[in-house]
Amino acid sequence: MQKNLLKLLDLSKEEIMRILDVADQLKYEQKNNMSHKILEGKTLAMIFEKASTRTRVSFEVGIFQLGGHGVVMSSADSQLGRGEPIKDTARVLSRYCDGIMMRTFGQETIEEVAKYSSVPVINGLTDFSHPCQVLADLMTIRERLSRLEGVKICYIGDGNNMANSIIVGGLKCGMNVSVACPKGYEPHKTILEFAENADAEFVLTTDIYKAAKNADVVITDVWASMGMEKDAEKRRKAFKGYCVDDKLMSYTNNAMVQHCLPAHRGEEISDDVLEGHADEIFEEAENRLHVQKAVMAILMGNI
Ligand code: CP
Ligand code: NVA
Repeated sequence: MQKNLLKLLDLSKEEIMRILDVADQLKYEQKNNMSHKILEGKTLAMIFEKASTRTRVSFEVGIFQLGGHGVVMSSADSQLGRGEPIKDTARVLSRYCDGIMMRTFGQETIEEVAKYSSVPVINGLTDFSHPCQVLADLMTIRERLSRLEGVKICYIGDGNNMANSIIVGGLKCGMNVSVACPKGYEPHKTILEFAENADAEFVLTTDIYKAAKNADVVITDVWASMGMEKDAEKRRKAFKGYCVDDKLMSYTNNAMVQHCLPAHRGEEISDDVLEGHADEIFEEAENRLHVQKAVMAILMGNI
């Protein structure tokens, strides 16, 4: 296994499957009140440069359930906010903690943390990728459909961190992936290059109905991600119609729906679709806990 989880591009299919298998096992153990203190006495530093509900709580609860401890920091209340270089912070935290999870803007920042850290580094979201979220999505899809290979997923909306990670995670697991985004909002070019050379089928279109046709899974995300708030109005115009609603769902193969949350009802997803698929979407949120416990157990506990 890699030392870090920085982006799904770094992982092999076997490594992804190992994380999902451990996550399934830990979920089973937790549901059956079985203790699994794999990280007894270990500490995870969690640095947030953007807001979070799910990532923060699921990591903090997760490390606790594994017998360890989490320390939450933000740039505002640490020396990072006063300009201390990230490479110094990484070296300091490595001397106190057994792992570092970070949510930040540039992918290069988390890559720099990993370069200077002597302990495993986990990406809790960057502008480029959201690997923990997509691992939770893959776990949820596999739970519900009993397989990943050959499943058709479609992603509707912004070519953002979620789109980038779903394309890579989906294709590595042998899923067929279709993406519909407005012109100018496509996924990152390194992701498109990866997709073109992947063994599984990949379609990029501006036509949401073409992307959704016969899909087994529909995934969407907000039109304006964190840090893009100033473009929200422009994006509202560009993304008009890129909505997962009943009409879009009627093109699918009775698909399940995934949304990383938070959702903007009436923009990328209708209230009806979100509430109609709430079981799947909140299971996905729950699976963040299990999959991140698996990532920590593997990277920090060497299981
Ligand atoms: N999906 C997700 O990462 O949620 P938070 O922003 O609340 O952590
Ligand atoms: N694309 C969203 C995901 C939030 C979990 C963002 O980056 O804000």
